[in-house]
Amino acid sequence: MIDIANYVENNRQEFLSHLFQFLKFPSVSSKSEHSKDVRNCAIWLLEHLKDIGAENAHLFETEGHPIVYADFIHSPNAPTALVYGHYDVQPVEPLELWNSNPFEPVVENHKIYARGASDDKAQLFIHLKAFESIFKTYNSFPINIKFLFEGEEEAGSSHLDQFVENYSELLKCDTVIISDTEWFDFGLPSICYSLRGISFVEIKVKGPGRDLHSGSYGGAVDNPAEVLANLIARLKDKYGRISIPGFYDKVLDLTQEERDEFAKLPFNENSYCKALGIKQTYGELGFSILERTWARPTLEINGMFSGYTGEGAKTIIPSEATAKISMRLVPNQNPKEIINLFEEYIRNISPPTVEIEVKALHGGNPVITPIDTIWMRKAKEALRNAFGTEPCFIREGGSIPICDTFQRVLKASPVLIGFGLPTDNVHSPNENFSLENFFGGIKAIAYYYMLLNENWLNKNKGAL
Ligand code: BES
Ligand code: MN
Ligand code: MN
Repeated sequence: MIDIANYVENNRQEFLSHLFQFLKFPSVSSKSEHSKDVRNCAIWLLEHLKDIGAENAHLFETEGHPIVYADFIHSPNAPTALVYGHYDVQPVEPLELWNSNPFEPVVENHKIYARGASDDKAQLFIHLKAFESIFKTYNSFPINIKFLFEGEEEAGSSHLDQFVENYSELLKCDTVIISDTEWFDFGLPSICYSLRGISFVEIKVKGPGRDLHSGSYGGAVDNPAEVLANLIARLKDKYGRISIPGFYDKVLDLTQEERDEFAKLPFNENSYCKALGIKQTYGELGFSILERTWARPTLEINGMFSGYTGEGAKTIIPSEATAKISMRLVPNQNPKEIINLFEEYIRNISPPTVEIEVKALHGGNPVITPIDTIWMRKAKEALRNAFGTEPCFIREGGSIPICDTFQRVLKASPVLIGFGLPTDNVHSPNENFSLENFFGGIKAIAYYYMLLNENWLNKNKGAL
């Protein structure tokens, strides 16, 4: 595989300049003002797939942002891998906390800084450059490969589900490969075998038809901001256990074996607190930090707003109050059922003085994959070869909703072989991606593709 490594090393500058072109598109999927940018980004990606030798490149229109597809299918006796990623990114706000323009990538301290650098543009791009490195080196490709890139992951993947159902024949594969997760720590390659699901709701408390003078009406009219605060206070106990009746009924419990494996990982609570700028951790009694974030369901307020938030004082009883709430789910919880339980509970504990609106924004199923498969073993081997370190298995707390659809419709479990780091600031200002993981990732993925066809590898022994 020395040829592959050489190709990567000889093309570092070019790979980086292509990645920078990709990062320059402000492909923020949740904002309509950026829909043209999202489309232009998809078109660029499509053209790049053609440039590197992928075939059948096609832009599939949806009611939202386009889906990018391309493939290379020339090995009847080799497995077929479906590579999934997302070219959309999170909004950049608060812009003033960035040290550089989020859409003008720069390299500093061996890291690439840009929105989407880690989540998920550079990780997706690793697959393109791995493909190119093999293809340009051998003028052939060891397995059949299908690329599927969406532009709506950060907005809840609203159209991809239907697409996968409709095009299950086109997407038919033996394994799914996704690089959109993190390593446990710098220098510790990790394969993720479970992600949490999500239910995202917005709750609105409506009081008087307009803001009222808090002197004239205070005492006579219930205050939506206070009602909302009281409702929120009743969602969990002080240890983070959720009070919604039935919420835990379907939770798949951790096995002792899993808990033992988690406990072996090099987790240091002090450095964790320091890195996050918190005084101490918090959470459900009886569970470790890793157990709480990886394998226990949780509930978080993502935003709340009501009344006057400008400078100085303004004496009002606000007319309404809103909170955006996410619940992270674990196998075998169901996002729709959870939203129903949430709404039922909120309605039960709401006072008769206000009106309550509960809106489900998006949801996604949790996923857990087997680890004792050939796909996983080869992934481990590829990471070991590229980084010289024994990889570990982890779970993660974030969500990639389409994973469950792949399992259900295509009957293929995703191999979550990501290259992000906990210091990448994903969804935050100054998002970044390590150069070492970018170039190392390209080699690892190229080795992985090659390892998935042992026969091909044997034939090209001279190259090893
Ligand atoms: N790449 C992340 C998921 C992720 C984050 C995996 C951290 C592992 C560790 C993905 O882009 C993401 O942010 N997903 C959203 C899903 C939501 C918008 C439906 C999430 O988890 O909030
Ligand atoms: Mn992502
Ligand atoms: Mn994300």
